[in-house]
Amino acid sequence: MLEGTLVNLRAPEMDDLDRNTAWINDREVTRFLSMRYEIARAAEEAWLRDLCSKPMAYDRVFFAIETKDGRHIGNTNLFNAQPEERKCELGIMIGDKSCWSKGYGTDALRVLLRFAFDEMNMNRVQLHVFAFNERAQAAYRKAGFVEEGRRREAIYTEGAYHDTVVMSVLRDEWRRDEDPRT
Ligand SMILES: CC(C)(COP(=O)(O)OP(=O)(O)OC[C@H]1O[C@@H](n2cnc3c(N)ncnc32)[C@H](O)[C@@H]1OP(=O)(O)O)[C@@H](O)C(=O)NCCC(=O)NCCS
Repeated sequence: MLEGTLVNLRAPEMDDLDRNTAWINDREVTRFLSMRYEIARAAEEAWLRDLCSKPMAYDRVFFAIETKDGRHIGNTNLFNAQPEERKCELGIMIGDKSCWSKGYGTDALRVLLRFAFDEMNMNRVQLHVFAFNERAQAAYRKAGFVEEGRRREAIYTEGAYHDTVVMSVLRDEWRRDEDPRT
């Protein structure tokens, strides 16, 4: 388990299935993600079973986010890891909407970045965020990400095209004073 100030990150479990299924079918959550199609419980179960059946590894980093009292509120992952470039992409979803804007996401990001830089020896962690997702951009900035540029009209959702924002954090600029444990 990886410990933050407000949250812990733990390995995913099959017990997470019902919560995950509800979150990825909640349009208020998925409108911020590249997910638009409904997902059947059986499909989510197969995906989660595969995830839980193998140990976490360099190309397979996925954590459940829990509050300090053990309540599962979301998930976060690193993907597209490229060892030659020592870079990867980051995803995060606080699926429990009652937990938005309370600092949990920023804390989870800080914990995951510490893991990426100090344990996986990443040099760069990057992501794409929808331009209208200002809460996410604020959380990313608080965790150390900077904006690199925009992809114009890169996504189409809710009847309109929207820009996406490319953000990244480099190992050398990542400040350990943003790490909750230092
Ligand atoms: C994005 C997400 C991970 C952020 O986590 P969180 O716990 O809600 O965010 P935090 O509380 O750590 O930080 C959010 C910050 O944005 C601010 N904020 C909230 N709504 C905002 C808005 N509409 N505009 C600008 N800032 C906003 C908050 O006040 C907070 O800043 P503060 O601490 O300085 O007050 C979470 O909201 C989430 O998972 N949302 C749904 C899925 C999603 O968007 N995933 C990311 C896809 S790229």
